[in-house]
Amino acid sequence: MHEFKYKNNHLYCEGLKVEDLVRRFDTPLYIYSYHTLIGHYMKLKTAFSRIAPLVCYSVKANSNLAILKALVDKGAGLDIVSRGELARAVKVGCPPEKIVYASVGKTSQEIEEAVKSGILFFNVESLPELENINRIAGQAHKIARVALRINPDVEPRTHKFITTGKITNKFGIDFETASGILLFRQRFAHLKICGLHIHIGSQITDSAPFVAAITKVARFARQLEKDGVSLEYLNIGGGLGIVYNQETPQTAKKFAARALPLLKKTGLKIIMEPGRFIAGNAGILVTKVLYVKSTPKKKFVIVDAGMNDLIRPALYGAYHQILSIRCTLNAIRSPEKVDIVGPICESADFLAKDRRMPKVKAGEYLAVMGAGAYGSSMSSNYNSRPRAEEVMVVKDKVFAVRKRENHSDLMRNELIPSFLLGL
Ligand code: LLP
Repeated sequence: MHEFKYKNNHLYCEGLKVEDLVRRFDTPLYIYSYHTLIGHYMKLKTAFSRIAPLVCYSVKANSNLAILKALVDKGAGLDIVSRGELARAVKVGCPPEKIVYASVGKTSQEIEEAVKSGILFFNVESLPELENINRIAGQAHKIARVALRINPDVEPRTHKFITTGKITNKFGIDFETASGILLFRQRFAHLKICGLHIHIGSQITDSAPFVAAITKVARFARQLEKDGVSLEYLNIGGGLGIVYNQETPQTAKKFAARALPLLKKTGLKIIMEPGRFIAGNAGILVTKVLYVKSTPKKKFVIVDAGMNDLIRPALYGAYHQILSIRCTLNAIRSPEKVDIVGPICESADFLAKDRRMPKVKAGEYLAVMGAGAYGSSMSSNYNSRPRAEEVMVVKDKVFAVRKRENHSDLMRNELIPSFLLGL
């Protein structure tokens, strides 16, 4: 469910007409619905209220400060993966005891900063990383809290680039190694190993892989308890899938019905790290049609948003629904098959391929749906294209939440050496 709906044939975000927003803010434009964002967060909180989990929104999905602040104000914690994301978490006033830190390649500098800021714990991905955190915490005269990220070796049935819980993936620690670490945890004098973590992949539409992974890790926690290792937390990661096209993902309620009994039985405090589930359908990317070009074999709708603005179709072959922001057009114009492409000189620069669309004309606007997660956060300046403007709508009010970059933003950190300037 989301708050992007047609009213009187015009697409609205909450109480505002998308057409008015693009006229005011220009395109490409990311539009976020505040109430959709918070609504999704609350859905998860409510579905799992019996165990009152700490929901740490996964910053990487959409790291805009306004998105983070909106969620933190509602009590969310944050799941971070870099010192840049830590800086954002601090900036929006997220309490450190609600921050968890994953990533297979945390640098010593990143570890040091996070130890000093007193985060809840690190999700640790390997033995050498654990040793490094122990060393850095010792130097800082601190005890660092950590959870071991377990690789449970389950098949999440999603795109191979976003599969993370199989033993051939780079993520996490296998059960045997984890067991060795936990049984000999006294070796790590500056660590408190307080939990286990799993994150098996992203855009998972079925509960079964989650259930399989939770079952495995819960069994492991029970065995550890018998062996005298008691833990406090179980972090079940993110990965809940959303509707982009014809998917029928498990709802928060259905997921809770399957997962709650297993989680409750562990007796551990539960943490979740959803990103896409919260932000995915809370954002759209609006783009203007520049040209419509016919070739002997194909028809191309050339728009002003490219793979630098939304890379998901190019990188994962991802499907995003694309709608005209005026739906009267849908009714009166017969559909035709087109490729919707950006202006960038790469054949991977497309938003949709062979898509049946009502005939569109130059100058019209299209809304790329489900662009709230991994849209702007994965955007780049490729082709020296400024990153898009972002706005947040709250009922009938709109707030700019990221200004469009200009040329000097793009060149800010570049230098021409003096010898090239003839100095
Ligand atoms: N926790 C960890 C440790 C993660 O690595 C991720 C995402 C999440 C939580 C949040 O996952 P979510 O709930 O959003 O599925 N760029 C890809 C998705 C990459 C996901 C990376 N890790 C995409 O556009 O589909």
